[in-house]
Amino acid sequence: MAVGFQNKTGSQNLGSVVSVRGGVVDVRFDRRLPPIFSVLHAGAEGKIIVEVMAQLDASRVRGIALTPTEGLSRGMQVEDSGRPLEVPVGHEIMSRMFDVFGSAIDRKPAPQNVEWRTIHRTPPPLSERSTTSEIFETGIKAIDVLVPLERGGKAGLFGGAGVGKTVLLTEMIHNMIGHQQGMSIFCGIGERCREGEELYRGMKDAGVLDNMVMVYGQMNEPPGSRFRVGAAALTMAEYFRDDEHRDVLLLIDNIFRFIQAGMEVSGLLGEMPSRLGYQSTMGTDLSGLEERIANTHAGAITSIQAVYVPADDLTDPAAVHVFSHLSASIVLSRKRASEGLYPAIDLLQSSSKMATPGIVGDRHYNLAQEIRRTLAQYESLKDIVAMLGMEQLSLEDRNAVARARRLERFLTQPFFTTEQFSGMNGKLVSLKDSLDGCERILRDEFKDYPESALYMIGAIGEAKKAEANQPEAKKPDMKQPETKQPETKKANEKTPGGQKTDPQPKAATASTHES
Ligand SMILES: Nc1ncnc2c1ncn2[C@@H]1O[C@H](COP(=O)(O)OP(=O)(O)OP(=O)(O)O)[C@@H](O)[C@H]1O
Ligand SMILES: [Mg+2]
Repeated sequence: MAVGFQNKTGSQNLGSVVSVRGGVVDVRFDRRLPPIFSVLHAGAEGKIIVEVMAQLDASRVRGIALTPTEGLSRGMQVEDSGRPLEVPVGHEIMSRMFDVFGSAIDRKPAPQNVEWRTIHRTPPPLSERSTTSEIFETGIKAIDVLVPLERGGKAGLFGGAGVGKTVLLTEMIHNMIGHQQGMSIFCGIGERCREGEELYRGMKDAGVLDNMVMVYGQMNEPPGSRFRVGAAALTMAEYFRDDEHRDVLLLIDNIFRFIQAGMEVSGLLGEMPSRLGYQSTMGTDLSGLEERIANTHAGAITSIQAVYVPADDLTDPAAVHVFSHLSASIVLSRKRASEGLYPAIDLLQSSSKMATPGIVGDRHYNLAQEIRRTLAQYESLKDIVAMLGMEQLSLEDRNAVARARRLERFLTQPFFTTEQFSGMNGKLVSLKDSLDGCERILRDEFKDYPESALYMIGAIGEAKKAEANQPEAKKPDMKQPETKQPETKKANEKTPGGQKTDPQPKAATASTHES
């Protein structure tokens, strides 16, 4: 990989290694001190690559290694390439896979007819940004109805370990890439290499690799490389936006690993850490990357980013900083995942700036509000149901609970990417079908259906089939008893009577507390 650089530069500025401490390399240059961000080569065939991070004095620079530093020792010769990190851009990079140095890692020859561009670029100025708001449909019910994504916006998928971020991101790629006009760039930062390989194969099998570029700096790479790989992917995205005037979908898994890599780099450089050990420059590091994801008059970059949330704590400084850059935040909850309600989106905590009547329209907005209200009411009644049982709720509350539980189940969806292990065929649902389904549930049209009839279906029309096929079928996922029609009627007669004559003081107290 370094060979390409060496041939390009032919630099005569040579230095020697002064010290090596893990990934930190100090180099002495007697003739000319390389500027910040210069790339230095050392070792056999220049394979050890170091990026200059600081100029210590008149003749010494300190750099961070972007490759393992095994074999590097004091006194070894170092060559200044005279250039910063660069990646290839051009039409030829389509359907290829790269690392942070722009070298192809898909076992194919390096792309020809490409231009090399520095990965250190500034965000577009305010005057060049465009401001249009349009919805980006994903075909996933819960997202389209409650957390509509913005075309040209940034969306985050927040979640702790193993709650389904990667699965949801892959499903979105699957759903969108087919009918997305532009092209997509996938950037893997600090996640598993296996996932990169799986995605590559998946995209190839699905026949959508032609419109895709992948860039990886996975968890086995040194921190310097993980820290820069996001910028490398963005440089390619900017080329497609600015030079080819195309719409770009940029997918990042996982942006938290970018912050984490920055923290490691900062620690290696001996900088003073800030809150919870994060680097003091976290905000600047992150905005340097996020602000480059912008829409200009030439084209738009829509980005979807997975955000790992350490210890499921949404107040973690890293999660908080990422939140502030996004136009839509999809929060994944461990509780929903444990109940098997996939995608495990926390419907009340997730939010989108697009969910306003001016953008989504009055009907969609009112429906979404009504859904949130119903779910919030269920949430507040959960404790009472757990302690005293459904019978102690007023009829109105009972109906709300029934509606909320049906909504929760209707907003689950089988995914194409999980077909192999879930055994269910994936479903793509249009926004209209999703809205119709929610509206009909809110109108109590599905009151008499078992809750399981709405679980893991696509459009609401499929609920009928499930009921007709298996009228008594009950899934083990239902922990609470069904609210049946006759019982509800009985309770209806009981409750008002109870309040007047007070034969059931407990019930009356419970409902008074609630109201
Ligand atoms: N929609 C889904 N349907 C069925 N199972 C799912 C779904 N989403 C996630 N899972 C289950 O959860 C597991 C973990 O999902 P995933 O790898 O996406 O988590 P993650 O949030 O990316 O985790 P990490 O932080 O470790 O990268 C999957 O292997 C799968 O078993
Ligand atoms: Mg993952």
